[in-house]
Amino acid sequence: MNYEYFSLTTPEFNLLRKFLYLNSGLELTEKRKYQLELVVGKRLEVLRLASVEEYLHYLMVNVKRVEEQQLLIDSLTITETYFFRNKSHFDLLQHHILPQIAQNSPEKKLKIWSAGCSSGEEPYSIAMIIHELSVFFYGWKIEILGTDVNQTRLHQAKAGVYTERAIKMTSSYYLRKYFKLKDDLYHLNDNIKAMVDFRKFNLIHEPYPLQEMKDYNIIFCRNVTIYFKKSSTERVIHNFYKSLKDDGCLLIGHSESLHNINDEFRLSEKDGVYYYLKSPAPQNTDERGLYTDQVTPLPVTLTATDTKSLLEKGLGLSARGEYEEALFCFNEAIKAEPYLVEPYLCRGQLYADRRVYSEALSSYEQALKLAPLNAEVHFLMGLVYWEKEDFAQAADFFKKAKYLDAGFCLPYYYLGLWYEKEVRYNRAYQAFAAALKIIEKVPKQIKTTSLADFKIETIKQTCLNKMEQLERLSD
Ligand SMILES: C[S@@+](CC[C@H](N)C(=O)[O-])C[C@H]1O[C@@H](n2cnc3c(N)ncnc32)[C@H](O)[C@@H]1O
Repeated sequence: MNYEYFSLTTPEFNLLRKFLYLNSGLELTEKRKYQLELVVGKRLEVLRLASVEEYLHYLMVNVKRVEEQQLLIDSLTITETYFFRNKSHFDLLQHHILPQIAQNSPEKKLKIWSAGCSSGEEPYSIAMIIHELSVFFYGWKIEILGTDVNQTRLHQAKAGVYTERAIKMTSSYYLRKYFKLKDDLYHLNDNIKAMVDFRKFNLIHEPYPLQEMKDYNIIFCRNVTIYFKKSSTERVIHNFYKSLKDDGCLLIGHSESLHNINDEFRLSEKDGVYYYLKSPAPQNTDERGLYTDQVTPLPVTLTATDTKSLLEKGLGLSARGEYEEALFCFNEAIKAEPYLVEPYLCRGQLYADRRVYSEALSSYEQALKLAPLNAEVHFLMGLVYWEKEDFAQAADFFKKAKYLDAGFCLPYYYLGLWYEKEVRYNRAYQAFAAALKIIEKVPKQIKTTSLADFKIETIKQTCLNKMEQLERLSD
């Protein structure tokens, strides 16, 4: 028999389909009959069986039935994937979701589940991003779990060896840092492999061991439920809801939606990227009815004119060197509106100008409590440590600032200076180059302080000079 020409009658197709659904939860639509015919035809040939009836018997009673059922599942699942697939999700993860978790989880635990992970590219991309953010997650308990129903793909995931096809969207930075190329294959570094656990898990069929599958901060389930019946997708999504922490986040594929599937989640958007949140709806929606980000943006718009004029007065007094009076104004502003970030920044800046570093830090820390994801506050904290000559601590804050706002040039500039001090000339060159690129594209001014000269032209020229010197050093 030539299995390529094997065909199933409608009752045979329905029988096999039912068997697969009941035993593995796998759902085959009419459109995939051709795929089942190819697989079953080939198995009949290999096992030397004469009919579908015999094959069904084999699947049910043969001592090798479990292996055969798995083989069928592995042959019928669609497992297309690659590293950093739908890159905008990973940008969202790196620049928004993870920094937010890092600032708001005193228990220092991070749990992420990649459901339907295929050969591991998705959970490993997540692991690389977390590795990049290690400055946020130092001392944290981090669990990344990848699950799939396809055993063959899970074996490949554990091996961590990939072909060119899997890395087609991976930047050269990640390739150089996290892979070794051997015999045309990309071997993922052991430290990233060790960050991910893999487990066989059928999203549809198995009752969830909820004791284990709970308290997730983030669940990725992308391009998986597109192959499910609507009723199964509804159950799976509701189970995700139960598995997530209260403020947990669910990412589904770009072509998928929870519309008419589940209304327990709320749709959120950040920089054009959509994701779902478990937490109850806040009051603020935008004109499209989407929930907008809750992070306080800076500069804070002052609502009370009194406070605004107090701050303006304080800044004027400070510029004239009348520090006591300026401090009085800032403190009054804080008393009037303790939830505004700007008065704390003004007071911090005043203390920093006077080199009263402990008070400056304490004021900025209060600002950070109000706006934990604000890049400028992190940067200003870094600057105080820089002035105190605690360069490593300063660099930590600059790194956080750069992750929180990739379009902010000053953290890159200072990181360049730090790497240069550390004699890490390549890194220094890259940091100055990144600062320059931002300045040329989107120059972003922040308030100047007397601690350093932030005239963009000066920074641009310094970056150019430093890059030239560093280039000569590496010749
Ligand atoms: C197209 S891949 C998507 C991989 C990855 N999430 C991505 O977006 O790149 C779909 C994966 O879902 C898995 N899958 C299909 N049905 C499943 C089920 N019932 N339970 C668990 N995994 C399933 C398949 O084995 C396959 O590896």
